[in-house]
Amino acid sequence: MSNLVCVDDFAREAHSILPRNALDYYRSGADGEVTLSLNKEALRRLRIRPRMLRDVEHRSTETSALGARVAVPFGVSPTAMQRMAHPDGEVANVRAVSKLGGVYILSTLATTSIEEVARAAPECTRWFQLYIYKDRKITEQLVRRAERAGYKALVLTVDAPVFGLRRADARHKFTLPSHLQLANFVGLGEDKTNGVASAESGSALNEYVAKLFDASLSWRDIDWLKSFTSLPIVLKGVLTREDAILGVEHGVAAIFVSNHGARQLDYTPAAIEALPEITAAVKGRCQVFVDGGFSNGADIFKALALGADMVFVGRPALWGLTHSGQAGVEKVLGILKEELDRTMALAGCTNLKQIDKSMVVHESFYHK
Ligand code: FNR
Repeated sequence: MSNLVCVDDFAREAHSILPRNALDYYRSGADGEVTLSLNKEALRRLRIRPRMLRDVEHRSTETSALGARVAVPFGVSPTAMQRMAHPDGEVANVRAVSKLGGVYILSTLATTSIEEVARAAPECTRWFQLYIYKDRKITEQLVRRAERAGYKALVLTVDAPVFGLRRADARHKFTLPSHLQLANFVGLGEDKTNGVASAESGSALNEYVAKLFDASLSWRDIDWLKSFTSLPIVLKGVLTREDAILGVEHGVAAIFVSNHGARQLDYTPAAIEALPEITAAVKGRCQVFVDGGFSNGADIFKALALGADMVFVGRPALWGLTHSGQAGVEKVLGILKEELDRTMALAGCTNLKQIDKSMVVHESFYHK
């Protein structure tokens, strides 16, 4: 593994290892994938204005996420079906995050159950990502199980009332390999557990979502969730100041700026482009998280400068997982931490508070 020195190296390796079915699913963005490339392009267009002679001998990347102390200001986004990448799937991923001291968000559509992931990494700061099913009893049960298993927040995904169309998945009729299941639904109905095992006319996942997810989701459902759980609620998938303000008014604990890794609505802004309007609107009333296209420590530094409290990565962890399970994810996350630490040192910051707005500008700043 010593010749793999950046996340892109792991991405390349994973692309050569994964079977087409899984690679298409992990890699793809929605429709023409305009936002998929924009997520990275927008980060590339930001420049760091480093400060010198500031004594950076002792540095810390520690921060707090929803009140929990974490060693790094980043974590792993919820991504479905991680056992397609490696037999150890979610267990390997959460253990790697636990070792690093970050945050792990488990997907509703995981191939390992809420309880098994909790047992694998009891010490890890774990949050549970929630999709709301038409069957509200099932949804409520998921929340109860997450509470009991020690998850510290619900990450409610609000950008997926229907699923975006990922063309490769539609073309090749994506299905979950038959030895895997949506582990959170075992015993709760064949349609929910094995509903992604066969496709009719396109991606089996899109058919599953159309059948089972509640497309009538509205702001009222935030109040519904709050009526039976006291877990903090994170709204994942917010891209406008209007929705960020509504979120704050509905008492959420954090706004998670995300375009779902560019897999839902194409032509949305890059997550990093949407971030400043949202931090400005939220005005510190709750935490702000971001994901989408982050693949190195400088990217993370840029989001922190623009006001994010935490940054998350989806695919980078999947690439590490594909390469070598837990060790691969550890290596990927370790690289991100080292890169962030080095960026901080070279930019003149010893802690995250010092990474402020003045340190990152759009490239146009230099071309006036
Ligand atoms: C996702 N994402 C996602 N989000 C969510 O809320 N629930 C989920 O089950 C999934 N599943 C999922 C699968 C795969 C393969 C990908 C790539 C993404 C979106 C995810 O949480 C996150 O927003 C993006 O992955 C962030 O972008 P990057 O880091 O992958 O560029």
